[in-house]
Amino acid sequence: MSSTQTARTPEKLKDNALQDSIAILDFGSQYSQLIARRVRELNTYSELLPFHTSATEVSRLKPKGVILSGGPNSVYDVGAPECDLAIWKLGIPILGVCYGMQLMAHQLGGMVESAAIREYGRAQLTVVHHGQLFNGLEPTIESWMSHGDSVTELPPGFSIIGRTMATPVAAIADEERGFYGVQFHPEVVHTVGGLDIIRNFVLNICKCSQSWTMDKFIEEAISNVQARVGTRRVLLALSGGVDSSTLAFLLHKAVGDQLTCMFIDQGFMRKNEPEWLVETFERDFRIHVHFVKARDRFLEKLKGVTDPEEKRKKIGAEFIRVFEEESRRLGPFDFLAQGTLYPDVIESAGTNIDPKTGERVAVKIKSHHNVGGLPEDLQFKLVEPFDKLFKDEVRKVAAGLGVPEGIRVRHPFPGPGLAIRVLGEVTKERLKTLREADWIIREEIKAHKLYRQVWQIFGVLLPTKSVGVMGDQRTYQNQVVIRAVTSEDGMTADWARLPYDLLDTISRRIVNEVPGVNRVVYDITSKPPATIEWE
Ligand code: XMP
Repeated sequence: MSSTQTARTPEKLKDNALQDSIAILDFGSQYSQLIARRVRELNTYSELLPFHTSATEVSRLKPKGVILSGGPNSVYDVGAPECDLAIWKLGIPILGVCYGMQLMAHQLGGMVESAAIREYGRAQLTVVHHGQLFNGLEPTIESWMSHGDSVTELPPGFSIIGRTMATPVAAIADEERGFYGVQFHPEVVHTVGGLDIIRNFVLNICKCSQSWTMDKFIEEAISNVQARVGTRRVLLALSGGVDSSTLAFLLHKAVGDQLTCMFIDQGFMRKNEPEWLVETFERDFRIHVHFVKARDRFLEKLKGVTDPEEKRKKIGAEFIRVFEEESRRLGPFDFLAQGTLYPDVIESAGTNIDPKTGERVAVKIKSHHNVGGLPEDLQFKLVEPFDKLFKDEVRKVAAGLGVPEGIRVRHPFPGPGLAIRVLGEVTKERLKTLREADWIIREEIKAHKLYRQVWQIFGVLLPTKSVGVMGDQRTYQNQVVIRAVTSEDGMTADWARLPYDLLDTISRRIVNEVPGVNRVVYDITSKPPATIEWE
């Protein structure tokens, strides 16, 4: 959907100015989001801003402190990212992490050079002076380093507060101005006491109040939605995942029956899931769900399709058609609600605030909902109350709103569902085979109480057959893969070391109980080099 068809308001930026917050200037480190999450774990709101955000724009947010993230560059690279020099005149504490510390030294008159010894991984940091930043920490800290450059000359007013064997200037401070720099990454779990360092900065140095709680978020989100929506109507496409389900709960609380929930059954959900979902919403929570039966249409579109991307495209296009037809039938609606999360906004927008206007630039519509390309006459304004939340925060909101556990702890499930887990052509029969096998996998992982320990676990039906022998008879049948991974965020993953007994039970049950399957294999590949899904 183009930005002319949807309207995002930058109003939230103003709202956030009402509570204590930390602004994080993002210089491109893979850990930037993690810094934001750590600050929020301390119940203080934090927001990631592009590194070039002007000091005027930063101060519009009224943060009580600034953190400069790490980044892949060297301060001496041509075009290396720099922050607005006026940031140093804002009169608020600033913590530079890794590249952020080097930039601090560089911009304030120190010297940064390519390090004689590069330092990657764990390093023992000796605290030279505890001061406010290392207050309460041990004299040596196991820290996580990842740098090729080092500060070799301190800027005026600074002193060294920590060193390692390889890096004599590993932490610096100018306590008077409230400027601190750490060469290591306090935001990663490998830095022992890292959260204490962030706590010292956020709560003691910046003196932030701990007002960012999910209860307060819920309260504010409800009143924001009420103010924005008024007496108008909102449409929400439920997917069954935690984001859209939690959103349904929140919106129902906010605007009651002005909310219309639609569930399009493409036929690619797991066994019993569509029915369970609708029943839970309707019976337990009295939230009406328009159940759209569309299984046959989707299957028809996938006839003869074997290429994974083509499957996704066909499913996406059909989703739009059904969505269009149904929203016309049930409409008109003024608003479309989406469970867009903060990482979606940051990732898809990159530099998500226009440095000139200070407004959030148009962000790509969440592709999962596939509402791109709607016709002109279906114009919606977007309601995206979670666009400032991380996934773990949505789960807390879900708990606060009483969303049932079955939805809250649900593993991520791809939009195209089982269609990309039936490798090759998708047919009714093959979907049924996978559904039954997948059901067993889920039953067993839950029975072994390991469901929450894995990020995802599911079955994949291969497009090949293999020979077997069952009761003296030669068989030539399907193979099912068990895919189970552990992960923090789905970006990287490791195969789960499930107990052999569990794998054995799953394998026996699938072969015995699912007609047409004579072999079960376990995927022992991490991501990278593989992906979590097979298609
Ligand atoms: P991969 O397979 O890329 O998956 O390692 C990473 C995460 O994304 C999910 N996934 C999808 N989700 N539509 C979705 O909504 C898709 O087409 C899709 N493909 C993968 C996957 O389940 C995992 O959690």
